[in-house]
Amino acid sequence: MNGRDLVRSIKTVGSAGAAQGLRSVRASWRMRRTDAAGLPPRGAERARVPGPVRDVEPGPGGGVVRFSRSELRITVTVNGAVFWGWDGTGPEPSYALAGRCPEPDPRAVLEPDKDGGWRVVAERATVVVSRHGAIEVRTPGGVTVRRDLPPRWWEPVGGGAARWMQRSEVPADARFFGLGGRASGPRLRNGTYRLWNTDPGRSFGPADDPLYITMPVQFVVSDAATHLAFHDTSWDGTVTLREGEEGAGSGHDRSGTCELRMSGGPLRCWVMVGTPARVLLAWASLTGAPALPPTWALGHHHARWGFGSEQEVRRIVAGYQERGLPLDAVHLDIDHYDEHQVFTVDQERFPKLPQLAEELRRDGIRLVSIVDPAVRAEPGNAVFGSGVAEDAFVRDASGRLVRGVAWPGEAVFPDFTHARVREWWGRLYEERLAQGFSGFWHDMNEPTSFAAFGESTLPRSARHQLDGQGGDHREAHNVYALCMARAGYEGVRELAPQERPFVFSRSGWAGMQRYGGTWSGDVATGWPGLRASLSLVMGLGLCGVPYSGPDVGGFDGSPSPELYLRWFQLGAYLPLFRTHASLRAGRREPWEFGPEVLEHARVALLERRRLLPYFVTLAHLARRTGAPYVRPLWWGAPEDRALRDCEDAFLLGDSLLVAPVLDPGADRRAVQLPRGRWYDTVTEQAYQGPGQVLVDAPLSRIPVLARAGAVLPVRGGDGGLELEVWAPARGRTGGGLVVPDVGDGWDEPGIERYVARWQGRRVVVEREGEDGVSAPPHPVRVRGVGER
Ligand code: NOJ
Repeated sequence: MNGRDLVRSIKTVGSAGAAQGLRSVRASWRMRRTDAAGLPPRGAERARVPGPVRDVEPGPGGGVVRFSRSELRITVTVNGAVFWGWDGTGPEPSYALAGRCPEPDPRAVLEPDKDGGWRVVAERATVVVSRHGAIEVRTPGGVTVRRDLPPRWWEPVGGGAARWMQRSEVPADARFFGLGGRASGPRLRNGTYRLWNTDPGRSFGPADDPLYITMPVQFVVSDAATHLAFHDTSWDGTVTLREGEEGAGSGHDRSGTCELRMSGGPLRCWVMVGTPARVLLAWASLTGAPALPPTWALGHHHARWGFGSEQEVRRIVAGYQERGLPLDAVHLDIDHYDEHQVFTVDQERFPKLPQLAEELRRDGIRLVSIVDPAVRAEPGNAVFGSGVAEDAFVRDASGRLVRGVAWPGEAVFPDFTHARVREWWGRLYEERLAQGFSGFWHDMNEPTSFAAFGESTLPRSARHQLDGQGGDHREAHNVYALCMARAGYEGVRELAPQERPFVFSRSGWAGMQRYGGTWSGDVATGWPGLRASLSLVMGLGLCGVPYSGPDVGGFDGSPSPELYLRWFQLGAYLPLFRTHASLRAGRREPWEFGPEVLEHARVALLERRRLLPYFVTLAHLARRTGAPYVRPLWWGAPEDRALRDCEDAFLLGDSLLVAPVLDPGADRRAVQLPRGRWYDTVTEQAYQGPGQVLVDAPLSRIPVLARAGAVLPVRGGDGGLELEVWAPARGRTGGGLVVPDVGDGWDEPGIERYVARWQGRRVVVEREGEDGVSAPPHPVRVRGVGER
């Protein structure tokens, strides 16, 4: 909250808002004072570069190259990733890694290169270190995919964290993606992107940056190869990107550049090179397999800030049921808490929550609870009392509790970077489970503390345990939500071991997929917001977080019926399909926008339900391979430059291409097709890629195309699994993977593999097993055979 917002809040919400505003003014002053005392000024600084190379010490997977003013450790690990760390830094400890660092690859050895440099040759990449500390990553074929110039540090003369800068070059044709959830992407154009998880404090659009999830993860695609570069440092920083340019005629190419400036923390980097699928496989093997959502979480969710009462929840649910609209989860926001205090229930308005949960569960609908980290600092508040007894809350350098302002008023914040505190917090979910909740929606965990001026978070000098390392908020801020997600996930797993936990979190960092997914936060209602919400899902997927989705309809205001419908139609093909809106926003139920929208929304809901087995398969594949459900069109053809620049459509798994309508008034749209034959899944009309085609996009549906030869699992009319097969092009074969749904527990289903081929004038489908092929155990429906 800034000064203007304060005045506005006083005008609009009266005395409660005014009280909150005054608290946030006080909090801002307090934060300034705390930082002034806890963070002495940096004073004079000394600049440093590595200097010339001195000697080397070969070691497993690479070795150490010593320069006159720094040393560089290089290790190639068995998953094919390359690690390097300056000033002797190793890969551990790290909040991003899923466990211990992977073993070094014994085949990778450090050997002399030309001009006094050194190199490590590995199976998937060669790393060449120049005499002054430039690092080049090359493909096995010798093409350079990234060149880091020697880094530069600035060290405070009086001691303290050094800030540093790393400039890199990438090929002239390269495109940048990633950096967490960015609203202006998925392609990250020239500009500076900040690495500091931030609640923008209002609904955001494409121009807002940074947002809730930032990550120093660059996903770079060029003709030469795809690579992911991860600078494993949680401190505040910026990344300035500049796309390159290819010289016309005999002109020279200008490389793309990236300048990373960090305010502290180790300078260490992981690089993975290969196809997009290989890169994300290596990334998942390093930072952890994405948590598998329970099946119900792959259905439709309805949320609302301000249901206000059990009766209203029942009314909405009945609205879905009476109209035959599928609904799988209802989310309760902070208004069901007792005075906005986490882990409590307003007994007047929600007197029988467990009973409501049980009724809903019988109808196949789960309840999901919002969970905010801030705890009201007030004697008598049980969560506060137990946290104080546990010494769970963040303190400042002088040992006082750090107080901020959040929905419950003056609040304190658990230090989730402390294992003991995570365990304490995890146990608090017992109350939520007893209320009947099945899933958890972590919010406000950047963490956000309302501030009238300055930053809306904790003071930078606030102390954190950082899992035994000790440090302050400058280092802990970006991993705060990641650690909260861990606390929630592990707590729920312990308390309800029979079911897979469902946790999704507004903020997070590299590795957050181990505990669950996210959503796009408070996206502004409007066509730009619709586009931004797709950008976030795609960008996060390339950073290893495959499960996310927007607030369908946008968070604030009232969408036009057309905008609502187009958002709904897009949401139906995203991993998290959830309608949600702010307290003061207009309604978001599908029947609130007139009969035509209702009919089309029904089609989208029913199609989502029909595709549920496909979503289950994609969720399992994401867990096993790191491949996101939602992939950019260039996923299988990163060398296709036209696809690389296409940001308004996506692949859903291997089989479907979804082309949402992102502009008002459209009833047709251009689609850039990857190579091969594609069928419009409604008309069965066939199109040939690569190239651009115009397809129909009437209000009733967004274009969804199926890849020729695809075998995808769908829900048949009787609710059982059915195989939908799209005829391969003549003379070609097709196929697909199916992972059957084995419920919400921990059973490991096997993967079924199918092949589709022409046999005379028929398309036949067979299951491939260890002992040869057999008939599929599911009904088969072939489509596209009579294509035009
Ligand atoms: C901010 C979240 O982004 C939003 O989804 C939620 O409704 C509000 N906080 C209130 O809890």
